[in-house]
Amino acid sequence: MTGRGQSIVLIGFMGAGKSSTGKALARKTGLPRLDTDEIVSTRFGLSVGEIFAAFGEEKFRDAETEALNQFFHETPAIIVTGGGIVLRAENVKKLRELGNVVSLEADEETLFRRISRRATRPLLQTQNPRGTLVELLRVREPLYHAAADVRLDTSRLTHDEVADAILKSIGKL
Ligand code: S3P
Repeated sequence: MTGRGQSIVLIGFMGAGKSSTGKALARKTGLPRLDTDEIVSTRFGLSVGEIFAAFGEEKFRDAETEALNQFFHETPAIIVTGGGIVLRAENVKKLRELGNVVSLEADEETLFRRISRRATRPLLQTQNPRGTLVELLRVREPLYHAAADVRLDTSRLTHDEVADAILKSIGKL
């Protein structure tokens, strides 16, 4: 008995492919998908950007932790997280209890290209989004690495390929 659940938990920076890979994994495994951003957004009845604007980042982080604490490790699921979930050690502890933690990664250029397709990320609405990305990555990369059981570079893979690589790495394919 390891005390850990059977969920597949996706962590990683904005643009790493967590949402799309989560959908592919849910389709392939038949497991339910739980997405912390979606849950928080539904709870407030607002987009993530609107929550940041109206209540600030700290309130969003509190709601994110609350959403996570409603997940039970007895119920396997595909768990998709927001890029900042690793900022709180208590979140990381909980994620590791839930199951296999997979860090989706990509090179800086790829992340920036993917993120730039949509202006929905409040943290990157700065004068110099590329500089902000570099700084956030510098702080967060060690946190993603420390939290992960498995690390996967998604830069040159489709979402389906990423999903298959994850299932293979945890012995489910
Ligand atoms: C955030 C990432 C976003 C969302 C919020 C904050 C972050 O999720 O939770 O904008 O701090 O990296 P995605 O990683 O799905 O973009």
